[in-house]
Amino acid sequence: MVDERAQLEVKTLGESRIDSPLAALLRTGRTTQHYVDESDRVLLDDTVSLVAARGVPVEELPGFEPGGPRRKIFFDPSKTRVGIVTCGGLCPGLNDVIRALVLELTNHYGVRRIFGFRNGYQGMTARYGRSVVDLDASLVAGINEYGGTILGTSRGNQDPDEIVDCLEQLSVNVLFVIGGDGSMRGALKIAEVVAERGRRIAVVGVPKTIDNDIPYIERSFGFQTAFAKATEAIRAAHVEATAFPNGIGLVQLMGRHSGFIACYAALANNDADYVLIPEVPFSLDGPGGFLAHLRDRVVSRGHAMIVVAEGAGQEFLLDSASSLDASGNVRLQDFGRYLRHRIAEDFAAAGVEANLKYIDPSYTIRSVPANPYDSVYCIRLAHAAVHAAMAGRTEMVVGRWRGRFVHVPIALAISSRNLVDPDGDLWMSVLEATGQPPVFA
Ligand code: F6P
Repeated sequence: MVDERAQLEVKTLGESRIDSPLAALLRTGRTTQHYVDESDRVLLDDTVSLVAARGVPVEELPGFEPGGPRRKIFFDPSKTRVGIVTCGGLCPGLNDVIRALVLELTNHYGVRRIFGFRNGYQGMTARYGRSVVDLDASLVAGINEYGGTILGTSRGNQDPDEIVDCLEQLSVNVLFVIGGDGSMRGALKIAEVVAERGRRIAVVGVPKTIDNDIPYIERSFGFQTAFAKATEAIRAAHVEATAFPNGIGLVQLMGRHSGFIACYAALANNDADYVLIPEVPFSLDGPGGFLAHLRDRVVSRGHAMIVVAEGAGQEFLLDSASSLDASGNVRLQDFGRYLRHRIAEDFAAAGVEANLKYIDPSYTIRSVPANPYDSVYCIRLAHAAVHAAMAGRTEMVVGRWRGRFVHVPIALAISSRNLVDPDGDLWMSVLEATGQPPVFA
């Protein structure tokens, strides 16, 4: 049996001996409880029955290390040099995280040297010749008002040895990687090379993806902004669909393997009649298939609204050549356009009028600034990341678990993918809100 406690263990570069500069805050007496008692843990299970099923004493149950400031830290802030890199696809909130890291490091810890690497891991690889940016409070002022990342980004990992060479040349002690699962795989390799070379460089990740598919964290930053933005496309398509005879609104939303954006955006508007996601297979043809159901609904109700996640229905497009992107992800085929074509064909064959309006908001949902809720989350994740790194934690990402900020080993955060559970309550809500049948077979 796998020892879950060992899997949840976060690595430490060494014993923390330096008094935290945040002690001044502690002396006010108001923040005492926010300093973390090292023995405290955030349990993996949240119900008594799950705990009981393990049959082990509570003190031996697996749990994550809580995030937050420590009384003693590992790095001397006056000598600490920090690097920040943003990698992978864009996500609302990247600039919020960069800004909060810089402000927390400078204002609360007194770190004086922070380097920003340009265009992801390319900026840490000599042959790309990217210059390094000196980050300070004035440079990051107001950047959270903008989408994207001031550092730029790129997909794909680079040679971890070259990256560690770069960190050594700049005498960097702490590297913050803001990225998705592919970038975190890269971060893990960097941390491994650091360990092989016997260096004391903390590698701490802030996980990012609009798809919300990173496991062991309750939510990834940017997800909420992205699905909120996606609701605009659904609203527009619904207005169009209800204005024309036999109007059909079809909106395709990002979400490579996980349909969270499609489900949440559809629930937010509560106008969708169908939601198609990769986690729930469906048939298009035949009397019980999606097309026949859609036609019946349009004939009886006069309109219909469909939301599809881009990863849905890929099996219908298997004949098209597939390729990988720089991060190693399979490039998806355009199911939304295929479905639009199939609907038009099906209605024409049945002699039924159809007025279909197709909207694919694509990158517009992820290139926007974070909404206030995500901004708050970004700041708090960044604070947790800085506290963890200054205390010498490494090979970990910060996340939220059972309502607490926690330290999650990178290996665990990339060990699986969060998916919409077809038997879970989110999908149940979608079925209830849309009224679509549980299966199209
Ligand atoms: O992983 C986030 C995401 O936005 C997915 O929803 C989408 O499939 C993918 O990235 C597209 O990324 P790009 O076109 O930048 O490679």
